[in-house]
Amino acid sequence: MARRPGERIFSSKMDWCSHPFVSKRADQLFKHAQLESVKAWIGDPAHGALPLHARLQRAVRQLILDGVLCAGRPLPASRALAKSLGVSRDTVESAYGQLHADGFIERRVGSGSFVSERARHLQCRGRPRRSGVDGKMALRLSRRGSALFQSGGVRDARTPRPFAPGVPETRSFPLQTWERLGRQVIKEFGTLALLHGPPQGVEPLRRAIADYVNLERGARASPERVLVLTSSQQALALCATVLLDPGERIFIEDPVYHGARKAFNAAGLVCVPVPVDADGLRVDQLVEASKTPGEPARAVFVTPSHQFPTGATLALERRLAVIEWARQHQSWIIEDDYDSEFHYAGKPTACVQGLDRHERTIYIGTFTKSLFPGLRIGYMVLPPELVAPMTVARTLLDGHSAAIPQLTLARFMEGGHFGAHVRSMRATYAVRRDVLAMLLHEHLADFVEPAVPDGGMQMPCMLIGDIPEREAVDGARRAGIELLGLKELHASSGHRAGFLMGFAAHAPHELESAVKKLATVLRGLRRPHPSAS
Ligand SMILES: Cc1ncc(COP(=O)(O)O)c(C=O)c1O
Repeated sequence: MARRPGERIFSSKMDWCSHPFVSKRADQLFKHAQLESVKAWIGDPAHGALPLHARLQRAVRQLILDGVLCAGRPLPASRALAKSLGVSRDTVESAYGQLHADGFIERRVGSGSFVSERARHLQCRGRPRRSGVDGKMALRLSRRGSALFQSGGVRDARTPRPFAPGVPETRSFPLQTWERLGRQVIKEFGTLALLHGPPQGVEPLRRAIADYVNLERGARASPERVLVLTSSQQALALCATVLLDPGERIFIEDPVYHGARKAFNAAGLVCVPVPVDADGLRVDQLVEASKTPGEPARAVFVTPSHQFPTGATLALERRLAVIEWARQHQSWIIEDDYDSEFHYAGKPTACVQGLDRHERTIYIGTFTKSLFPGLRIGYMVLPPELVAPMTVARTLLDGHSAAIPQLTLARFMEGGHFGAHVRSMRATYAVRRDVLAMLLHEHLADFVEPAVPDGGMQMPCMLIGDIPEREAVDGARRAGIELLGLKELHASSGHRAGFLMGFAAHAPHELESAVKKLATVLRGLRRPHPSAS
């Protein structure tokens, strides 16, 4: 912060009126409240990165924009202002010079500085409309904007707290390899890598993704059908806006991944919940619900490999039935295959997209869980006719994904590092899953009944006893533990209380201390037994 020696930001007791250089008109202009607001602006730590003259310039500009200082009104002489603020005259001159250059004030030799006539159209229609005790303008958002804001969005903590679901272990990521490949990319592409990239994603990455999903997920993909995005969340938002109109129905699983439901709600879609059982989505109920005349069924959202949050796998006959349903209704199947890399009992079932000869399935994948969330790369494998519309639509969101991470990831995959990392993390997570199951048995058997999953990074746990789910989740949060309540993922009521416990991001000893802490929290919440009083 450029401040000259001996320069104060402002004197604690500033008295404009009594200063000999402040004319009567000027002190009328800078009333006490206005002066206070200049002081507050200058002293606000949020503006601390700006040099002093810039802070002063912005403070005066704000008074002009707010209509507090109207066109034609004189400003205090720079010497007087400098003295009252306890800053150098150069600082005030510099601020006034910038205000003049920007057209906010006029400077007349011999008569001083005035708010410019040009500022008239910017303001001076009386005092700005204010509301609320803090004097802030009432915020007006669109209905969609308010709904987006009210939804709370989908946010993940920057430092994963124990049991936050779906968070991978990042501490053992092979950063050196990643860094080496990144350097190779920069060496090879040079400044070309700094330019805009193709909106569909770089070809080597699309090829690597297509090879991967064909081999590992039984998909029917080619590089031309892959659209590289920043996340599966972006894919969900694109599906919601490109495939359906506001007010149209989309079928979702009940319970459902909250990020999907929020993306669909944000697009104004009507989410129609379809129950899930041990074999995944009740496709028979989907078929039944689609019979309502005049209410077309445009799409269904499913997590068939590992239902979120129950962990169920969609049975083969249901996969075939949902494909047939989509064919008949000319509907889309939005398949979110978010964590199938981590399956601990043999291979996960092949994806629905690979079974769908009718090209009604949009396959969504992400590297958030298989590599690291900060990478921000996800993708869709699209039916050929959707490639152009989706690619054009994404240009309106963010243009394209960053080229250097895409090219680095392509090399990481081609070089076999992706496969090696996934294999190593699979072994790590399998151990952590077993450790968590054992710890729950040891310390929390009175409180929860875990459903040990065959795959994924989180364990659904049902609450036993009388502790309400919300109290358990809130109590845990206060103790630094993140649990995702199961009831809030359901559209229908009457389901058992419980929560999801992520186990991937923490080592066994960390899981142990978090489980013990959770046991203390739950013990504290237990209702006293009536006979005990
Ligand atoms: C079911 C499901 N789909 C998608 C995602 C989001 O992944 P991304 O970071 O790519 O948006 C998550 C993240 O937790 C998830 O659980």
